[in-house]
Amino acid sequence: MIVRPRALVAGLRSYSPLFGVRDRGTGGTDSARYCYSVWLRHLVFARDHGLRLRPGALVELGPGDSLGIGLAGLVSGAQSYVALDAVRHADIRASRAVLRELAGLFRARADIPGPDEFPDVQPGLAEYAFPHDLWGPGGLEEALSPARLERIEADLAAGRGMVRYVAPWDGADVLGPGVADLVFSQAVLEHVADPEATYSLMAGWLRPGGVMSHSVDFGSHGMSGHWNGHWACGDLIWRLVRGRRGFFLNRLPCSAHAAILGRLGLEPVAEARVVDRGGLPRERFVSAFRGMSEQDAVTRGAHMVWIRPKAGS
Ligand SMILES: C[S@@+](CC[C@H](N)C(=O)[O-])C[C@H]1O[C@@H](n2cnc3c(N)ncnc32)[C@H](O)[C@@H]1O
Repeated sequence: MIVRPRALVAGLRSYSPLFGVRDRGTGGTDSARYCYSVWLRHLVFARDHGLRLRPGALVELGPGDSLGIGLAGLVSGAQSYVALDAVRHADIRASRAVLRELAGLFRARADIPGPDEFPDVQPGLAEYAFPHDLWGPGGLEEALSPARLERIEADLAAGRGMVRYVAPWDGADVLGPGVADLVFSQAVLEHVADPEATYSLMAGWLRPGGVMSHSVDFGSHGMSGHWNGHWACGDLIWRLVRGRRGFFLNRLPCSAHAAILGRLGLEPVAEARVVDRGGLPRERFVSAFRGMSEQDAVTRGAHMVWIRPKAGS
């Protein structure tokens, strides 16, 4: 069987009112070191591709178990942070603990936790030393002032001011147009149920010159014994595996994400793919996916940075 029996059982159980849909957590952002690593990787990856992110207003899709990645952004100088999730996973008290630990990591100018500690986290970097050059003279020191950190903590507890957490979020009017400098996500866009609509909303939130930075994991997330086995699974079985889970895999390959962004008028800055040739060959995919390119068929993950052009540029 192409899907793991336990994935199928979990999907079937989710139909039963006796079991309901259990939220097992999303598995990353309850660790401050993970959040610190992810945030700095987004900044350093962009810098290494010629783009200096100076994020004032941040929007994150799918923060998961804590708001830590966006809090890392705030602690290091961003002005505001809106976190939008399909499911309310994050606990504010746990996020506060992560926030305090993040402040310590930035004060220590700790190196970016790398592949030894987080082997599967994207994007990979050429080096993991603390990126001092990302802040002007005194910039980080100012961002880390006790008064500012207290304000972030108070706003996190109150859910207003610099921090807003909306979960579940409603696409229609959660944010106005052109409000964000940076819209980012980590291991989320492979899950969104309607990628066209979601990308379109995210593009609308960006101000001209604003940037999207997304890491996407195209693997089967353990649903199959093959990393790309989800592309070999027929619709009926896939529907049963999905069951009533709050979010699942949309099975969109890498270039389909890029195509949507292109149609929305965004311009590519950089894309780094994680290639894995150890999966099923394309001929084993079901017809809906067999037509994807060979490059997509071996792309297990990708980090993508896109920019909304300024008017007239
Ligand atoms: C694998 S978790 C990743 C969580 C976190 N970003 C991390 O790095 O650990 C996927 C997250 O995407 C969220 N998600 C799924 N569909 C979403 C949507 N349409 N809008 C916002 N978040 C969504 C899930 O609720 C979950 O928090």
